[in-house]
Amino acid sequence: MAPPGYHLHLLRHGHGPSPCPPRRPLLAVAAAGRERPFQYLVGNEHWRDLVLVVREGVLIPRPETELLVDLASEVDGFREGLWADMGTGTGAIAVGIGRELGTGGSVIATDVSETAVEVARFNVERYGLEDKVEIRRGSWFDPLQDVKGRLTGLISNPPYIPSSHISGLQAEVGRHEPRLALDGGENGMEHLVHLCEGSASALKAGGFFAFETNGDEQTEFIADLMKTKWGDFFCDIKRVPDFAGIKRFLTGYRR
Ligand SMILES: C[S@@+](CC[C@H](N)C(=O)[O-])C[C@H]1O[C@@H](n2cnc3c(N)ncnc32)[C@H](O)[C@@H]1O
Repeated sequence: MAPPGYHLHLLRHGHGPSPCPPRRPLLAVAAAGRERPFQYLVGNEHWRDLVLVVREGVLIPRPETELLVDLASEVDGFREGLWADMGTGTGAIAVGIGRELGTGGSVIATDVSETAVEVARFNVERYGLEDKVEIRRGSWFDPLQDVKGRLTGLISNPPYIPSSHISGLQAEVGRHEPRLALDGGENGMEHLVHLCEGSASALKAGGFFAFETNGDEQTEFIADLMKTKWGDFFCDIKRVPDFAGIKRFLTGYRR
């Protein structure tokens, strides 16, 4: 069976690999909104089997990111685990995971952006997941101090576009989507490296992580770092391709 979002992906992109960067083209209505993404005009986006509220100031969730929920749900102990979705944006990943958890499972979804926190909270309520998904505002590991060393899994699609590439993105992305959600610093990997390093103390022994990257090069770089610099902490590092065959995700376990 095709993974969730696959048919939607084919409708939008066909079978060929998508350019990287920029991220996948967004539907844009040039006349109505100077290339404002259609999703901002209508106020929602279909993602997996969800209809999520979106608005300017929060990233429109992308189809490739849907796979992060599947990767998490395949982990032993997933349903009763304590999960974190860091940089939650609309809350897409957290809501996707929250809907598949058992009675003992929960997700903490964090974001530094006030708009993202508001939108994520709305989406969590929309799906009646207030008892499963808790939204917290703050930078990366700051709002997770009380669960340090106890997380079953840590999932994130952080900003990963190199700063110098932002101005070259399609107008509807570069001009309308929040820079805070896109800009990954000079080489695009500042947040990714920070997340990898912090995972060592945030995850419990045997805990799982999955990060989205800009694609092949970043995934290779981070995988090497995890194996060399932090090899004492992590094991079973894998590079996982997206629908287009690009090595989009990095997964592994805390030893
Ligand atoms: C690429 S977007 C991903 C949004 C959502 N998870 C998704 O996949 O659609 C990255 C998110 O990270 C958030 N972010 C950026 N810097 C952050 C930080 N220092 N701490 C926490 N979140 C941050 C942004 O506000 C944005 O919502």
